[in-house]
Amino acid sequence: MRILGFESSCDETAVAVVDGGHQVRASVVQSQDELHETYGGVVPEIAGRAHAERIGTIVDRALAEAKTSFDEINAVAVAHRPGLIGSVLVGVAAAKSVAWRLGVPLVGVHHVEAHLWSGLLEDSVPSWPALGLVVSGGHTSLYRVDAPFQCTVLGRTIDDAVGEAYDKAAALLGLGWPGGVRVDQAAQQGNDSVYNFPMPNLKDRPLDFSFSGLKTALRYGVLGLPGTTTRKPEELSMEERNDAAASFQKAAVRTLIRGLRRARKQHPDVQSLLVGGGVSANSRLRDELESFAQDESLTLRIPPMKWCVDNAAMVAGLACVRLQEEGPASLSLAASPR
Ligand code: KG4
Ligand code: ZN
Repeated sequence: MRILGFESSCDETAVAVVDGGHQVRASVVQSQDELHETYGGVVPEIAGRAHAERIGTIVDRALAEAKTSFDEINAVAVAHRPGLIGSVLVGVAAAKSVAWRLGVPLVGVHHVEAHLWSGLLEDSVPSWPALGLVVSGGHTSLYRVDAPFQCTVLGRTIDDAVGEAYDKAAALLGLGWPGGVRVDQAAQQGNDSVYNFPMPNLKDRPLDFSFSGLKTALRYGVLGLPGTTTRKPEELSMEERNDAAASFQKAAVRTLIRGLRRARKQHPDVQSLLVGGGVSANSRLRDELESFAQDESLTLRIPPMKWCVDNAAMVAGLACVRLQEEGPASLSLAASPR
C-alpha cells in the first residue's frame, strides 16, 4: 500500500510517500520560518497563502524523490484536524483533488495522533497499550493508546503548550525565533540551578499541565518584577541567558516527566511509550525520556530529529492502519480547527 500524505496544519508545508505504513520513500517538508520570523510567531494569513503557493511543487518533489508517479499511488492521506483553519484547508483541498482525480481512497487523520506514529516510521509497532506524549508548539497532550486509533486523552495543557512556552522564553531571553531549538542550545551552555523555576501542580488534575506560570516566572526572575526597574532582553549577558534557559528547561522537562510518572502509576498495564511533536527534538527531554522508559521497563519510540517536527510521513503512515481498519473517508471530509 503506497500512500501520498499531506500535512499543512500550521507553518510547514509537507508531502510524503510511505509504503505499508512504515517505509518512508520520500518526506519533503518546507518550513515557513523565514516568513514569520519578523513577527515572532506564525501569522495565519501568511501561512495559508504560502501553503497554497507551494504545495503543488512539493508534491512534484515528493514523487520525484520517491521515484514514483501518481499511477503508483494507492491512497491519499491528509491531516484534516486540528490546526489553523486556513492552513488545514489547503492540504485537505489538495488531498481531495488528487484522490478524486486518481480514483483512490482518501483518508483523514488527526494531526496530534499522527505525531505518535512518527516514532514508528522505519521501525516496528510496539506492544499495546502504550502511553503517548505529544509535545509541540500547539499541543501538550498525554494519551493512553490501546491501538493506533484508540487514543484516550489522559491530560493536556490548560494554557500554553510546552513548545509555545519555549518560544516565549526565547523571546524573553532575546534569543529570537524559532525559539525552542535556541533555548535548547543556550541551556546546554548554562547552569540549571541558578534559578528555581516552579513546576505548577493543578489541584485535582494531576495529569494536566500548565506552562504559562513558568513563562511568567522566567520573565520576573530574569527581567525583573513589574513596578521595579525592569531590564530588556538585549541587556542580558550571554551567561545570564544560558543559565536562565537551562533553569527553564529543567522545570519544563521535569514537569513533563512528572506527568508521565503519574500516568504510569494509574496505568500499570502499559508496555510502551510513544513520544512525538517538535519538542521531542529537545536534548534534555530525550535524555530524561530514555531514563524514565528504562526505569519503568517501557519500550520507547521517539522519532529521529527529522520526524519530530511537522511532517507528512507520520500522516501517511498512520493512514495506512486507518484505511485497513476503518476504510476510506468520503470526499466531503471536512477540515477542522479542532
Ligand atoms: O510539532 P511542531 O513542528 O509544530 C506544531 O504542531 O506545533 O512543533 C514546533 C514546536 C515549536 O514550539 C518549537 O519551538 C519546538 O517545537 N521545538 C523545540 C525544539 N525544537 C523545536 N522545543 C524545545 N527544544 C527543541 N530542541
Ligand atoms: Zn504538530
